[in-house]
Order: sequence, then C-alpha cells, then structure tokens
Amino acid sequence: MVVIRVFNGPNLNLLGQREPAQYGQRSLQAIMQELEQFADSCGVELDHLQTNSEGALVDAIQQAGEDEVDYIIINPAGYTHTSVAIRDALLAVEIPFVEVHLSAVSAREPFRQITYFSDIAIGVISGFRGESYLLALQAILNRIEP
Ligand code: DQA
Repeated sequence: MVVIRVFNGPNLNLLGQREPAQYGQRSLQAIMQELEQFADSCGVELDHLQTNSEGALVDAIQQAGEDEVDYIIINPAGYTHTSVAIRDALLAVEIPFVEVHLSAVSAREPFRQITYFSDIAIGVISGFRGESYLLALQAILNRIEP
C-alpha cells in the first residue's frame, strides 16, 4: 500500500481564525479529515502532523525516511521562506514531495516568493485554500496510476 505523510508547519493550527482572506475559513482539522477520507477512498494510507517547531519537522521527516514513506505532502508555512534545515532533511530522506500552500504565495509579498523547497519538489500547488491538499494528493495518485 502507498503511504503518504502530510506535514503542516507553524500557525496552520490556527486555520479558520487566522487571516481568512488569505487562508480560507476552514480549520486544519476539517481539511485533514477531508483529505484522509479521499485517501481512504483511493486505498492510500495517509497520516498527518502539524507542528510549530522547525526541529520537530526535521525529526518527523527523518522518521518518515525510516518508516519508508512513499510520498510527502508538506506545507512548511513560514519555514518555506527560511528553512535550510527542513530542505536538507527532505533531501536526506529522498522521499518525493509536493509543496503545498493555501494562499497564492507568488502573488504576495516579495519575501514569500523565495521558497527553499520548490526547486526540489516534484511539484507545487498554491492558492486553492484547503483544496490545495486534495490537488496535491490527486497529483500523487496520477503519478502512481497514470
Ligand atoms: C502558507 C504561506 C506562507 O507564506 C505563510 O507563512 C504561511 C502559510 C500558505 O499555506 O499559504 O504560514 O504556507
């Protein structure tokens, strides 16, 4: 069975309350529940982790390597624009990953247009609010079963 792990970075636990014009009205819990249901219906094993800590994300990515996870979907949130450590962890485990953003980062402030992940991701999905995660999963499924 294909195993997919989803990682969400800092402040995404506040989705629904946090800047709804950028990130939408839905909670992370609701978005992840819908994603898990979609994965279930496709026969894929999917679990997720949200953390506000950079080190915890690095540890979790290393663990995904040990667990032989097939694909990662990651929204590094604010760490997208700063974290060499998370980038290095993804390079180290060599797990193909999709970079996801709820907001259209390329249409926002200049500093958000720098990402430490896009050039090593299999693809980037940005701007579709909570649906970005579903699109990322669909893209992975399309790769598995063309
Ligand atoms: C975000 C975009 C980032 O720039 C921001 O720091 C976030 C969320 C997004 O999903 O749109 O926290 O990754």
